Amino acid sequence: MKNWISFPRAEGVASRQAHADLPPGTFERELSKEGFFGPATHMHHAHPPTGWTTWDGPLRPRAFDLTKLTRAAASPWDATAVLGNASVALRFWRAGGAMDHLVRNGDGDELVFVHAGAGELYCDYGHLSFRAGDYIVLPRGTMWRVECHEPVAALLIEATGSSFLLPERGLVGAHAIFDPAVLDVPRIDDAFTAQQGDSTWRVVIKRRGRLSTVTYPFNPLDAVGWHGTLAPVRLNVADIRPLMSHRYHLPPSAHTTFVADRFVVCTFAPRPFETDPGALKVPFFHNNDDYDEVIFYHAGDFFSRDNIKPGMVTFHPCGFTHGPHPKALQAALKPKRPATDEVAVMVDTRDALDVGTLPDGIEWTGYVDSWKGESGR
Ligand SMILES: [Fe+2]
Repeated sequence: MKNWISFPRAEGVASRQAHADLPPGTFERELSKEGFFGPATHMHHAHPPTGWTTWDGPLRPRAFDLTKLTRAAASPWDATAVLGNASVALRFWRAGGAMDHLVRNGDGDELVFVHAGAGELYCDYGHLSFRAGDYIVLPRGTMWRVECHEPVAALLIEATGSSFLLPERGLVGAHAIFDPAVLDVPRIDDAFTAQQGDSTWRVVIKRRGRLSTVTYPFNPLDAVGWHGTLAPVRLNVADIRPLMSHRYHLPPSAHTTFVADRFVVCTFAPRPFETDPGALKVPFFHNNDDYDEVIFYHAGDFFSRDNIKPGMVTFHPCGFTHGPHPKALQAALKPKRPATDEVAVMVDTRDALDVGTLPDGIEWTGYVDSWKGESGR
């Protein structure tokens, strides 16, 4: 337990609770530590905190359109590095057809988020079908390959040196958000046994970012059975039943899906807007000052972001305030529709992320100016 220099104080005109009944005409900003779990203050501003006019220097909000990354790669190890640090690597992989080799990640667990396409995964543990909206957790060291029925686009999230865990569910209990019973595992089925045999197979192993190849005179995915507590799992976003409150805009941490060392993965799934007249209906302005924030937009209409479409990524390094875009801000108290249909994957990292070397035209360089507008100033 940390002994924070922290105790509640109030100055000037302030609301009594966060995200509700704001002083008239004000914009709320949350300044918080520990990714919304540490000491926090809610400040009431006369202007939106994103009302900047110019921005100089290396720190800036950035956006990337990964739909323009059209290069397919036969191996996930050739996927495009988008963002990363010592604890996490985010890569975007386009695959097609059947992999002619197996891969094994010796650097950490891999979380595959299937953005588009469908196919079959074969791994040490058996056979698992996948489709868009699936998360697949592959424990470190698992040998695997995919056969795609249709072109696949996937976000690969590597927990470098650590493991993906489920978050604490605390007051809401073990079955909230999603019941662990929906986590599917690979099966030793007819499709799995049909791909076994004595043809030559290569296993391309990644360790410390370097590749080694081991060749077998048979398919090493030759298990006839297994038992234990370790296995890949599949979770589709359609099985996520998000927490919400009709009276309180919950912070992103309420949507945590997986945790690993020094980062978390959250899923924004379709949910109704808050209905309490005084409650905020859009994300509050905030500086999440201990975390870098990444959002990958998968499907739907992203209610807090203007000009963002599926397949894009936004990157908000810590050190500046962000929040809803101007059009969303107009709906802060009166949304035009009863629910959001967005599906997005958020990766919040405790340590600073580096942007990979991306081809020209992938970055939306005007993103820093996207908060400008009548109501965003
Ligand atoms: Fe944020």
